[in-house]
Amino acid sequence: MALKFATVVLTARQARLALVFCRGKATTVTSQSDMNEEAKPMSQIPGPKGLARISSTFQSARNAAASHKWIQRRHEEFGPIFRESTGVIDLVFLSDADAVEQLLRQDGKYPERVQIDHWLDYRKRHGIPTGLVMADGPHWHRLRRVIDKPMLKIRAVNSYAVEFNDVVAEFIARMHRVRRSDNSIPDLAEELFGWSVESIGRLLFEKKLGCLSDQRDQETQAFIDSVHAVFESTREMIFLPSWAARIVMRNVWKRHEEAWGTIFRVANDIIGAKLRQIQEKGDDGSEVGFLASFVQENTLSIEDIYSNVSELLGAAIDTTSNTTQMTLHEIAKNPQVQGRILEEVNRVVPPDQQPTAEHLKDMHYLKAVIKETLRMYPTAPVVLRILQQEATILGYTIPKGVSLAVHLYPLGRNPKYYDDPDEFRPERWLRDEGNKKIHAFAWLPFGFGPRMCVGRRVAELEMQLLISQLVRKFHIEPVSHKPMRMKTNLLLMPVDPVEIRLVDRVKT
Ligand code: HEM
Repeated sequence: MALKFATVVLTARQARLALVFCRGKATTVTSQSDMNEEAKPMSQIPGPKGLARISSTFQSARNAAASHKWIQRRHEEFGPIFRESTGVIDLVFLSDADAVEQLLRQDGKYPERVQIDHWLDYRKRHGIPTGLVMADGPHWHRLRRVIDKPMLKIRAVNSYAVEFNDVVAEFIARMHRVRRSDNSIPDLAEELFGWSVESIGRLLFEKKLGCLSDQRDQETQAFIDSVHAVFESTREMIFLPSWAARIVMRNVWKRHEEAWGTIFRVANDIIGAKLRQIQEKGDDGSEVGFLASFVQENTLSIEDIYSNVSELLGAAIDTTSNTTQMTLHEIAKNPQVQGRILEEVNRVVPPDQQPTAEHLKDMHYLKAVIKETLRMYPTAPVVLRILQQEATILGYTIPKGVSLAVHLYPLGRNPKYYDDPDEFRPERWLRDEGNKKIHAFAWLPFGFGPRMCVGRRVAELEMQLLISQLVRKFHIEPVSHKPMRMKTNLLLMPVDPVEIRLVDRVKT
């Protein structure tokens, strides 16, 4: 009854805010009269209240796999700012790009993200120091200064194009071996996973991990399975604090712990072998590569190296392979998009050569295709921050320490920022074709500021090299024309693996 009442009371407000959010052609969500009004306290931020709030917590737990849709509906209901409890944490959600800009620009020297309690818990209980993803404060800053150098400098990353191209060649050879007689690929998601692990392995360890060979190494397979298991078990427990999950969901927690155990064991074995190799060669700087650069920096302890490399591996694999899977889905579905990529590759890259980082500079359409995919399917779907100082956002005073979330799915589908937001139109990113300028804070699939994704350049390079070569070698065709259904398993990903055919292009 009370739940019903709350819904009725909200309806008038809902109607006004839904108008602002859905039609959204107004230039700003905060009207002049709002701005003249005194800022309201945080308690007045819209959102489910009273019993509706409790019920909403349970519902959001039940709907976790569709949380991207859930949050989108919430914004349609309550407007560009709302407050909701996920059970473990009270979050303020934003979907107005100006407000998002204000939030992300207030990041001080040590921006803080809301961390996953279950992951921190595992590290604390096993005495593993936090790496870049999980660390905060001066410890995070020290790690980030060291890791930024080899990861974000364009020249350093581009030098890996040769290794990444080797992996692409292995991937294409494997596609020839595994494809069925009708040219369909049996398990594209898993194949791309293998490509992604192999690529990041080449970058971090300069070593073949064997993910694209016919007989995968057992340890590498165990590592891959465990990365999946960590995401899956976390999604199941995310609505309970870790201490409660350990008691109430013992089996899931056990799976979670075992998966982390395998990840750290396998990663430590590989890292240990590489570190021994570096030490054997001596400290003369002749050993190159990411790990060698960490060792030569001499500012990271061995424990820091182990935890950071493991976290880099964890952050790199699913994100890059999912995004590539969704890009291939769109390319298969849109032959004109595929045709334009092919035309660009053929124009820029000489026949029978692999693209280099230099070629990629001129491949604006390919980059727009990946950008458009990340707008529609942001695989790391939420940018989270803990407010570093009190701020007035969209007319509400929000105290320091409050957790805010920007869900990128509703942001990327908001008609206020994108015309025909549900249409895949890479051209919208090509400014020299007269398209309108898009708000920089309406596209944030890699986050923003000092805490933005450290692997962005690596991921982009890997994806550009793979997709350009796949399009050149094969007609990429869909197996069916069913729409792709999405789920949130912490990451946003397709419910069913994307099915494509790779048909050899006939050389003219
Ligand atoms: C398409 C691929 C990828 C996407 C969409 C993605 C997305 C993101 C996002 C949204 C964040 C949070 C940023 C923020 O809070 O402002 C992040 C952080 C991070 N990503 Fe990525 N990522 C991708 C690939 C990679 C790769 C390949 C690596 C490693 C080589 C990586 C390593 C990291 C790390 C270490 C962080 C934490 C950075 C910090 O807190 O200082 N990511 N990523």
